Amino acid sequence: MTLQDLKLNEFNSTRILHDDLLKQVSAILRGVNVPEEHADITSKILVSASLRGVDTHGVGNAVRYSIAIEKGEYTIPQSIEIISETDTTSLLSCGNGLGFVAAYKGMEMSISKAKDFGVGMATIKDGHHIGMVAYYPMMALTHDMIGLAMTNASPSVRPALGARPRIGTNPIAFAAPAGEQRDFILDMATSTVASGKIGLAKRLGVKIPEGWAVTAEGEPLTEPLGDRGEHWAMNPLGNTREQGSHKGYGLGLVVDILCGVLSGGGYGTQLSAGENMSFMMAIDIAKFRNVDDFKSMMDDMISEMHATPSISSEERVLVAGDPEADIQEDRLKNGVPVENNQYDELRDRASNLGVEIFI
Ligand SMILES: NC(=O)c1ccc[n+]([C@@H]2O[C@H](COP(=O)([O-])OP(=O)(O)OC[C@H]3O[C@@H](n4cnc5c(N)ncnc54)[C@H](O)[C@@H]3O)[C@@H](O)[C@H]2O)c1
Repeated sequence: MTLQDLKLNEFNSTRILHDDLLKQVSAILRGVNVPEEHADITSKILVSASLRGVDTHGVGNAVRYSIAIEKGEYTIPQSIEIISETDTTSLLSCGNGLGFVAAYKGMEMSISKAKDFGVGMATIKDGHHIGMVAYYPMMALTHDMIGLAMTNASPSVRPALGARPRIGTNPIAFAAPAGEQRDFILDMATSTVASGKIGLAKRLGVKIPEGWAVTAEGEPLTEPLGDRGEHWAMNPLGNTREQGSHKGYGLGLVVDILCGVLSGGGYGTQLSAGENMSFMMAIDIAKFRNVDDFKSMMDDMISEMHATPSISSEERVLVAGDPEADIQEDRLKNGVPVENNQYDELRDRASNLGVEIFI
């Protein structure tokens, strides 16, 4: 097992049924005056991340959001404004509220436009954290559509050849439906890892592998630092020039352009910590070809990947989405492991807000 694969099961954790987590997260958010519909959307996305093993973006964050809301860092209740709209495009303002809600609405609008015109796109400004980005393209799957979503963030990653953070971890998520096989769901930061994994290493008290981050002098950094600043930077995907760091860097700026420049909400260095501008797109497969034929070809492609001889005797070849689907199968059945300290925090927060405790 490498640090890349670390999941919360390795922590002291308590298994909680996902339905109870849904109720608990929603209750905490309603406890800080988030309207019920918005609390339920946010809760669904956070619990989905926990179910899929994306623990860095899961239910443990609910307390942090509720505190930020209480401090006035979010506008609650938010109103999502349509600034401009055509048959296939929309520019939305998240209203400085929960990014989850605006991203969800943006993908809903894109799906509806794609039903009519084949494609729908939304770019969203004035937003906060949207969590596990895969959630939004996965919304398109049930409509037999392809989904694409991206979000930018404040700087933590260096440009290729640079020695200071200037770009966010700017993830890209893409989902396409298969037939018999599992759907293809790629959800990846354009840095070597999402920053949450450095936080996870810090909490575990373990070093990070060389290649994830560098010091301001460009030397490999193996100490997981908790703060942000000019003294260290995460590496773009590829890490070194020889291994293609210019490609991860380029992809990171693609995300900044579609999310931050196209929306006008701002690119990396113009954002504060916790801000996310986003881009949501849906493509209706039926407008191109027969959906069953598409899915059948997806099945063939995925089967061929799975059948590829592995370079390791211990691991088989996977397709994006496989690791999360395996984890979700287990967690739906046996409950979601919640780190004990986060479990206590959720219960304490519910109790302090005077809302019902479900876990
Ligand atoms: N909202 C934000 O600001 C923000 C910023 C950065 C990242 N994130 C989120 O952080 C999460 C983690 O990102 P990450 O880059 O660390 O992801 P990761 O490296 O864990 O996984 C990336 C992708 O690779 C796939 N994968 C894993 N092993 C595979 C294998 N052996 N073969 C084929 N595919 C495989 C996974 O299914 C996944 O789609 C994502 O959900 C992302 O959206 C959010």
